[in-house]
Amino acid sequence: MDKRPEQILNEAKALLSKAEAEQDFEAARIKYLGKNGEVTALLKSMGSVPAEERKAFGKEANAVKHEISELVNDGKAALARALKAGKLMKERIDVTEPGADIPVGALHPITQAIDEISRIFMGLGYSVTEGPEAETVFNNFDALNAAPNHPSRDLTDTFYLTGNTLLRTQTSPVQIRTLMDSEPPVKVISPGRCFRADTPDATHSPMFHQVEGLLVDEGVTMADLKGTLDAFAKRMFGDDVVTKFRPHFFPFTEPSAEMDMSCFVCGGSGCRVCKGSGWIEILGCGMVHPNVLKVGGIDTETYTGFAFGMGVERIAMLGHGIDDIRLFYENDVRFIGQFA
Ligand code: DAH
Repeated sequence: MDKRPEQILNEAKALLSKAEAEQDFEAARIKYLGKNGEVTALLKSMGSVPAEERKAFGKEANAVKHEISELVNDGKAALARALKAGKLMKERIDVTEPGADIPVGALHPITQAIDEISRIFMGLGYSVTEGPEAETVFNNFDALNAAPNHPSRDLTDTFYLTGNTLLRTQTSPVQIRTLMDSEPPVKVISPGRCFRADTPDATHSPMFHQVEGLLVDEGVTMADLKGTLDAFAKRMFGDDVVTKFRPHFFPFTEPSAEMDMSCFVCGGSGCRVCKGSGWIEILGCGMVHPNVLKVGGIDTETYTGFAFGMGVERIAMLGHGIDDIRLFYENDVRFIGQFA
């Protein structure tokens, strides 16, 4: 017999300590424990060992076999664990890492302005109603007391759909629809889109938005109109603003006025926003013309009312310091995103 069990064990330990891969462990197992392995040969050689040593020799050889077998198995298991750990490391997620930004949508500044205006009037007891964008010529002009030859009726100003239908040029036709559909007291606002054959520039757009207001009841006077619209201006632009009413003309109101408010930027001393005047024109208004009430079937002996209309784009432009109306419709997220 060439090698003692102890020597074989030491050599096996040395070999296994260098094992790095599954096949290294397997090669060591075959070298010592395989059919022709060194430990197997040792056990086969038992017969040639003198009888008095045989028992101790057998015990030692079996212990070596057992130990090498354990070293191989442990080595393989450790290797498998290391591989698994490596894989997990590669797949691991850092749950503390900040998440990727998800772009979140927001309401368009025009929608926000309409919501704000609506909220203020709802707080004053108004309900919100909407009318169609495609209107009759009658509702948009005739019923609103517009003269038959009024220039705003021209093809160059108004988009006609047919001879007697058009894209409404104002939200005022909702006054007619409301009066025809309901009995006083009436207290509504109506936001919506309007259309005029304007060439786009910094202050004009062929599509724009208005908010119409209408109140009809017994004993309504110009004082109610002024109080209501002054309260609106203060809630919309700040308690410091003061309002004034200038005589104006609209066919559907008599008397008619335009409301100006003191500039909320400079307080009235004059700046770029108010073009140096200290005042900003904010809306049109007036006492509903009896002809309009009559079309709506309202008894003009009992009832009076006031109406107003304002441009939403103008109000949003003033509020945000925007100097070009076209920005609202280009939908460039760099612009739109600023109002989120
Ligand atoms: N419809 C008018 C326009 O487009 C605005 C307006 C003025 C509406 C006076 C009204 C009002 O209800 O009373 O210019």
